[in-house]
Amino acid sequence: CLVLVLIGALCSFIYIFRTIVFCPNHNKNGRKLPPGPRSLPLIGNLHMLGKFPHQNLHHLAKRYGPIMSLRLGSIPTIVVSSPQAAQLFLKTHDLVFAGRPKIQASEFMSYGSKGMAFTPYGSYWRMVRKWCTFHLLSTSKVEYFAPTRKACLGYLVESVKEAAAAGETVDLSGKISEFIEDITCLIVFGRVKDGGLNFGYIVDKVMHLLGLFNISDFMPYLAPLDIQGIARKLRRWSKLMDMVLEKIIDEHVQAIDPEGQKPHRDFVDVMVSMLNQPMNLQDEDQPYIVERENIKAIILDIMSASSETTTVSIVWAFSEILRHPRVMVRLQQELETVVGRNRFVEESDLPKLKYLNMVLKEILRLHPVAPFLVPHESMEDVVVNGYFIPKKSRILVNTWSMGRDPNIWSENAEEFLPERFMDCKIDLRGHHFELIPFGSGRRGCPGMQLALVTMRLVLSQLIHCFDWELLPYGMLPHELDMTEIFGLSLPRANHLLAKPTYRLLE
Ligand code: HEM
Repeated sequence: CLVLVLIGALCSFIYIFRTIVFCPNHNKNGRKLPPGPRSLPLIGNLHMLGKFPHQNLHHLAKRYGPIMSLRLGSIPTIVVSSPQAAQLFLKTHDLVFAGRPKIQASEFMSYGSKGMAFTPYGSYWRMVRKWCTFHLLSTSKVEYFAPTRKACLGYLVESVKEAAAAGETVDLSGKISEFIEDITCLIVFGRVKDGGLNFGYIVDKVMHLLGLFNISDFMPYLAPLDIQGIARKLRRWSKLMDMVLEKIIDEHVQAIDPEGQKPHRDFVDVMVSMLNQPMNLQDEDQPYIVERENIKAIILDIMSASSETTTVSIVWAFSEILRHPRVMVRLQQELETVVGRNRFVEESDLPKLKYLNMVLKEILRLHPVAPFLVPHESMEDVVVNGYFIPKKSRILVNTWSMGRDPNIWSENAEEFLPERFMDCKIDLRGHHFELIPFGSGRRGCPGMQLALVTMRLVLSQLIHCFDWELLPYGMLPHELDMTEIFGLSLPRANHLLAKPTYRLLE
C-alpha cells in the first residue's frame, strides 16, 4: 500500500514537473522548434546567460547545435552559431528576419522608432537608410570628410607627442574615445562640444543604459513597474539629450542659405533642408512630412551606432598589437616601407598597407564589438532547415562564437595570428559568413566603410609615429589583462594604458 502511495506521489511529481518546466522542442501546435535547453517558468532560459552571454551561449550551442532555441523571459529566441546557419538567416531568409525587436531604450531614444537601427523594416526605414548612405556613408561622402579626419588626427598626434615629451602615460582608451566622438560630431553636425552640455558624454550615458540588462525587454508585462529604474533614468537623460539636439537643429535652421547656393557643411545641414518637406515613401499613398523628431532620432542613431563600435574596435586592436610585439614590428616595417619616417600617414597610403588590413580582420574576428550583431526579429512564421521559427522570434547571431570555432579557423582559432588572412579571400563585406562583424544583408552595417577608414588611419598613425611601452613598467606583453565586459558592445574591462616615445624623424 505504501509502495502504491509512493508511486502515485512520484507520478504526480513528474506530471507537475513536466507541465511546469516547459519543453522547448515543440511549440504548442506540435511544430518542431530548433533544439535547446529546457526553460523555467517566467524566466525561461535567462538564468543561463550569466555575465558573458556570448560565451555561455557558445558553450550551449556545442551541445544543441548551430540553430538553438531558447526562451528569454517570454521572448522566443533563436541563437545562430555557424556560418551555414547565419547564411540561412541573413541571406536565404533575409527578408523574413529583417525586423528588429521593440526594446524599451530605443522607444525613448529614437522618438518612437524614427531612427534607423531599431526601426521596424519597411518603407520609412528604407528611406532613412537611403538618406544616411547617400549623404553620409557612401564612398564619396567618406572621402569628402578626409580633411576633417586629417585635422582631428593631427591634434591627436600632437597631444600624444606632448605626453611623450613629458614622459607621461597615455590612457589610450580615453584618448581614442575622445577622438572618435569629436570626429563623429564634426561630420554629423559640424562641431565638437556644446557650451556646457557635452553631447558625447550624454551619448555615453545613454549607451550605458542601452547596454544594461533590462528586465522589461524580456518580460514586457513588468515594464510598467520599472523594477531596475532604467526607464526613469532613460527619461531623464533623453530629456537632456533632446535639449542638445534641439539646439543643434536650431543653429542649422538659422544658418540655412535661402538661395540654396552654399554647399551643405555637414549631415544635419542636409537633413534640415528637408524639414517640413513631403517625402514619397515606397508603397505609401500619403507623402511623409519630415519633422524635427525624425532628424533628432537619426542623429542619435548615427552617433550611438558609430562612436562606441569604432572606439572599442581600435582599443582591442591596440591591445592585441601591444600584446604581440612581433605584430607591432611587422606593422612598423610595413609603414616604413610605404610611408617612410619623414612624414605622417595619409589616407592615400591605406590601400597599400596589406598587413594592417590582415590585423584588422583578425581583430574583428576575435573581438567583434557586437557579438550577437543587433538582434533581428522574424516578421512572420517561417521554416528554416526543417525547424519552425515563429513570428516575432528574436534572432541572435553569435559572431563571437563563429570567430573562435576551430572547425572554421583551425586549432589555433583562439590565437591572434593576422597571417591567417594572407592569401585568404575572406573579406568583411558580409559575403563570407565565417566573418561578419558588420552583419550581412538588408540590416548589415551601413557605416562599415567609414569605420574601416577611421580604424586604419588611427592605428597606422599612432603606430607609425610612436613606440609604445605597456604599463605598469616591467609587465610582459602577454600579461596584459584582456578581460572584456558584456553590454551593448564588448569593450575592455579596464582602460588601456601605455607610454609613447616619438619615433619619426623631425
Ligand atoms: C548596424 C557593426 C561602425 C552605423 C550594425 C550592426 C553591426 C555593426 C554588427 C548590425 C548588423 C545586423 O544587425 O545585421 C559595426 C562595427 C563598427 C560599426 C563593428 C565599427 C568597427 C558604424 C559606423 C556607423 C554605423 C561608423 C555610422 C556612422 C550603423 C547603423 C546600423 C548599424 C545605422 C543599423 C542598420 C540598420 O538597422 O539598418 N553595425 N558598426 N556603424 N551600424 Fe554599424
